[in-house]
Amino acid sequence: MLLNLENLCVRVFSEQGEKSIVHGVSFSVDEQQILGLVGGSGSGKSTTGLAILRLLIPPLVVTEGKIIFQNQDLFALGQDDMRRLRGGAIAMVFQEPLYAFNPVFTIGDQIDEVLVCHTSLSRSQRKKRCLELLDLTEIPDPVRISRSYPHQLSGGLRQRAMMAQALAGNPRLLIADEPTSNLDVTIQAKIMNLFVKLKKELALSIILITHDLGLVQHFSDSVVVMKEGAIVEQGKTNEVIQNPRHPYTRELMRAL
Ligand SMILES: Nc1ncnc2c1ncn2[C@@H]1O[C@H](COP(=O)(O)OP(=O)(O)OP(=O)(O)O)[C@@H](O)[C@H]1O
Ligand SMILES: [Mg+2]
Repeated sequence: MLLNLENLCVRVFSEQGEKSIVHGVSFSVDEQQILGLVGGSGSGKSTTGLAILRLLIPPLVVTEGKIIFQNQDLFALGQDDMRRLRGGAIAMVFQEPLYAFNPVFTIGDQIDEVLVCHTSLSRSQRKKRCLELLDLTEIPDPVRISRSYPHQLSGGLRQRAMMAQALAGNPRLLIADEPTSNLDVTIQAKIMNLFVKLKKELALSIILITHDLGLVQHFSDSVVVMKEGAIVEQGKTNEVIQNPRHPYTRELMRAL
């Protein structure tokens, strides 16, 4: 087992009082597995993903629970260790890469920054590695793309470049939050197939956060269904799809 969440609880504290956002979420991710975290808007998917990286900021606070990654208790790690882990062993890709990238630096510079932080490669090795990473994400003409600025790329290419950047720190776990929601259907399928390829070639585990049960059905090994901050159903994808137990899962399936 690579990652284990046990009874994760997140609350929001405000002047109007406090409220539970995520209540008692438990699941685990095995090595080389894609886990689909699926649910409607506001069900707590992104909050759960951010909690794993300890990226929640007030008013959102983790009030209970334990997260074990590679036998380390993440909530017990010091700030330095946590920084090493983020963008290193655990990386994240988002829905809109335009916001994830800095507009004034080239793609190559921004991948290089991750390589500087998370590897001990020399300058020339990093240059070579950057092109390898762009090639790994099936970007045509890596040299040209590495010299481009984020806004010069199409949405699909930008998504691939963000994946290349995420891979620069040699992650074991990738948390992908709605990675294909802004892309049209054919590009969406290509990006999802790329995730599957990377899973196999790099022995990666991936948490695929999505509201689209169709994506989960086609591309994930296991599934966790969330509704209003809690898990209503989880299991192997084909078992859950063939025999959904919870009415909410059936509702999501009818929408397919
Ligand atoms: N900073 C915040 N302050 C107050 N409430 C918040 C804050 N951030 C998130 N929430 C609430 O927490 C709940 C879960 O939000 P979250 O973003 O995790 O949902 P989600 O499942 O990722 O939804 P979506 O599919 O729309 O991305 C929502 O009801 C949201 O309104
Ligand atoms: Mg979200």
